[in-house]
Amino acid sequence: MKALVLSGGSGTRLRPFSYSMPKQLIPIAGKPVLEYVIENITDLGVTEIGVVVGERAHEIIEVIGDGSRFGARVTYIPQDRPLGLAHCVALGRGFLGDDDFVMYLGDNMLPDGVADVAADFRAARPAAQVVVRRVPDPRDFGVVELDGDGAVRRLVEKPRHPRSDLAMLGVYFFTPAIHEAVAAIRPSARGELEITDAVQWLLTEGADVRASEYTGYWKDTGRAEDVLACNRWLLEGLRPSVAGAVDAASVVEGSVVIGPGARIVRSRVTGPAIIGAGTLVEDSHIGPGTSIGPACVVRGTRMADSIVLDGASISGVSGLLGSLIGRSATVVPALYGDAQHCLVVGDHTRIEIAA
Ligand code: G1P
Repeated sequence: MKALVLSGGSGTRLRPFSYSMPKQLIPIAGKPVLEYVIENITDLGVTEIGVVVGERAHEIIEVIGDGSRFGARVTYIPQDRPLGLAHCVALGRGFLGDDDFVMYLGDNMLPDGVADVAADFRAARPAAQVVVRRVPDPRDFGVVELDGDGAVRRLVEKPRHPRSDLAMLGVYFFTPAIHEAVAAIRPSARGELEITDAVQWLLTEGADVRASEYTGYWKDTGRAEDVLACNRWLLEGLRPSVAGAVDAASVVEGSVVIGPGARIVRSRVTGPAIIGAGTLVEDSHIGPGTSIGPACVVRGTRMADSIVLDGASISGVSGLLGSLIGRSATVVPALYGDAQHCLVVGDHTRIEIAA
């Protein structure tokens, strides 16, 4: 079996971050989403991985490389324009050959792994095995309808009036039968070749299509609030380790990871939390649910439940909560006279202030 990981896409829901980095590289609990994805795939014993990349290909290649770090061999497949998930399968045709494969969306987090689904697929080898989960509002997803005995009856992409609450997650198992389906379908109303339509085509043609219900933790990390929620969830299982320096005036409590070269000075760090390599935390209180990246400076600040990316600098901020701070960003008190807020705000940024 091979794997096809989809890491193109423009990530509009994660702007402004996606202006400067592919959304699949947003770090959650200190690690890019795409690395969790690749690890889930190698956990299945699959080592031949094709990664479909868009305009930010070079950044993904820089982080993932040839895959040897994961015990895998990664082949990059360029996609000029995001024309849909089924379009990615067509682009991957040469790489996939006539092998079965798992297709995995590079922004989907399933930290409990997909070994059970892979076992279902390997046992019965249906033309397609999709992964579904009950969600309160399935309108943003592919939706699967089952009949009374659990067989797949219909699949619809983002229906306005869903007839079931079973959303398709971003993991699919296919035999090479999918290639004929992909060649047969036409673009949807949003102008994309939908994988949901390709699977529906297989079903209409009488092929065996199955759905496995996934009950573990899952997040499509398309929006900032999902990234933060997933960070919080992953940190709950954090194994503590202290490589950096903690001075005598500081307290570190709970599960805390302090990276090499990091310094905690006159501060309190209450886990679960990660302080990245080479980061300085001074006169601050870092609360639970916080992942601070490498080479940051945090001074005179109280924060919790947040993610801070590499090289950011935060000082004199007394109540930072539920925040996502980008690479090399600066958050400081206003410098000018009476100004309460002095902002330099990038496109599509969201700021919530205590008014
Ligand atoms: C895609 C699929 C959809 C699936 C979802 C899972 O949606 O088209 O069927 O439910 O991923 O994350 P998109 O992220 O393109 O809106």
